[in-house]
Amino acid sequence: MLETGLKAKHILITGGATGIGRTVVTAFAAQGARVSFFDVNGAAGRDLADGLGSAVTFHEVDLTRTEALRERIMALADEAGDIDVLVNGAANDMRHKTNEVTPESWRDTLSVNLDHQFFCAQAVLPTMRRNRSGVILNFGSIAWREGLADAVGYVTAKAGIEGLTHALAREAGPDGVRVNCLLPGFVRTERQVEKWLTPELQDEVMSRQCLRRFTEPEDVAGVAVFLCSDAARAITNQTVLVDGGWL
Ligand SMILES: NC(=O)c1ccc[n+]([C@@H]2O[C@H](COP(=O)([O-])OP(=O)(O)OC[C@H]3O[C@@H](n4cnc5c(N)ncnc54)[C@H](O)[C@@H]3O)[C@@H](O)[C@H]2O)c1
Repeated sequence: MLETGLKAKHILITGGATGIGRTVVTAFAAQGARVSFFDVNGAAGRDLADGLGSAVTFHEVDLTRTEALRERIMALADEAGDIDVLVNGAANDMRHKTNEVTPESWRDTLSVNLDHQFFCAQAVLPTMRRNRSGVILNFGSIAWREGLADAVGYVTAKAGIEGLTHALAREAGPDGVRVNCLLPGFVRTERQVEKWLTPELQDEVMSRQCLRRFTEPEDVAGVAVFLCSDAARAITNQTVLVDGGWL
């Protein structure tokens, strides 16, 4: 049997209240891990935590408030112990026309899609390096490799996340810390179905992917657990695509 080594490990997941993150929280909890998750959606976060028992704790956090975020991570480590695994999952795939972007809206887009991934990593890395063990998993997207239109800020942030991954993997690897990036393709979450899944997009997904089935949040969560587990102990500095063979 695959030995994940995740039992009793402390996992911090951002964006865990809905979508893929919700399934990732559930999947780590099923491994016997202690899961703390951050999200701005208080109602959904509390609802999830209530159903998963005492090993799972929800914290209502706006990740774009960087100083408060850093303090919250320090307090969490004091209260619940060193963070062994960080999953940077939160994002907002807002659409915007290039000619409508302002300096303020550009900054907001990078803030919600890129900045917190760095600042969460910065907050947990010193302890991981001291412990000579730890894993960071950053959620990117195939959107930047594909060149998704009308989302230039989101796409730019997602490209940056791969650079961030390579830089941190190189820096922290000698201290035993692994850093990888997971790129979902089109994943059939509630939000995607509600906001973007038109019959035209469905046709595109089915014609572009090698596989003629939708990728579901559970498909992504399984790969996330694997990449953070001991089974992947030799994997770092990598980007793993979970896109049904789209790219
Ligand atoms: N679903 C897809 O098809 C798809 C495709 C490619 C990449 N991804 C990536 O996978 C990850 C998860 O995607 P998803 O579809 O589940 O997204 P989602 O929008 O359904 O969920 C994202 C979560 O982040 C939270 N969040 C947003 N802004 C926040 C803030 N300021 N502070 C705290 N939490 C905040 C939201 O409340 C939500 O719970 C994201 O990084 C996304 O870019 C998803």
